Amino acid sequence: MDLKNRDFLCLRDFTQDELRFILDLAHDLKRKKKIGEPHKIHDGKYAALIFEKHSTRTRVSLEVALSDLGIKPLYLSKDQLQLARGEPIKDTARVLERYVDIIIARVYKHSTLEELAKWAKIPVVNALSDFSHPLQIVGDLLTIEEKIGLEDITIAFIGDGDNNVAHSLIYGAAIMGININIGAPKQFFPNKDLLEDARKIAERTGAKIQVTEDPVQAVKDVNVVYTDVWVSMGQEKEQQERIKLFEPYRITSDLVSHAAPDYLFMHCLPRHDEVTDEVFESKNSVVWDQAENRLHSGKAVIAAIL
Ligand code: CP
Ligand code: NVA
Repeated sequence: MDLKNRDFLCLRDFTQDELRFILDLAHDLKRKKKIGEPHKIHDGKYAALIFEKHSTRTRVSLEVALSDLGIKPLYLSKDQLQLARGEPIKDTARVLERYVDIIIARVYKHSTLEELAKWAKIPVVNALSDFSHPLQIVGDLLTIEEKIGLEDITIAFIGDGDNNVAHSLIYGAAIMGININIGAPKQFFPNKDLLEDARKIAERTGAKIQVTEDPVQAVKDVNVVYTDVWVSMGQEKEQQERIKLFEPYRITSDLVSHAAPDYLFMHCLPRHDEVTDEVFESKNSVVWDQAENRLHSGKAVIAAIL
């Protein structure tokens, strides 16, 4: 499997075999980290991390992952770059590629990533955009695989079905042949084009994708209940309106009583009002393992494309 020099902008660009390769690499790198076996397989390289938005998990896990691989991370907050004063993205891309080996970026607009990827000859990694969050989902698949395997399972994503995490989860599930139910208010059903595209992939892999307004129907007998914030970064102005609409979609003990008894509760974090403490702190919750796996999975993605 050769993923060298590939951009990592959307899971859609990867086949099941390629994602399988990345997951297997992640399992291996996790094992090496646990037994203290060094894996500086990209020693002497450099990475630019451009962040337009806040981050705890993505930034810290990637900086540690890069260091473990022998790559020096250069964290570049957008306001400290000439980008903030209007230097074009395409110029930034062509300058950075002369210094570093990979660009990792967390941006508002997904088109910023596409522009970076178009102009930089080195690989560009999506560390979250308004459209997708593929690194998160590689970590999530790793976590689900460790806990219950990826065969014959159904995931329910409840809440904002049209956000970055939901989009990537739909693609990840479709590619890996996992059934996925989205429970969301009609206004927040997943992007139509994405759904149609994911359903075409699902036809080949055998995954079923269902979208409903009824959260109870969405979680019925599922193996994984997944949620994310109702107000994503950049949507703060819509806060009041969103909270009102999403209220019936909060993950409560009552709602998860409809899932399979040994269901996993997952959340990309950070959390807000979308899940009760009772569910979040319950024995079904795997959120800390999920957060840890961002390190091993992010490392695998970078190791594979460099
Ligand atoms: N889940 C996730 O991407 O978290 P951060 O925003 O803290 O990076
Ligand atoms: N949907 C959230 C994910 C944060 C990791 C956001 O974009 O803010």
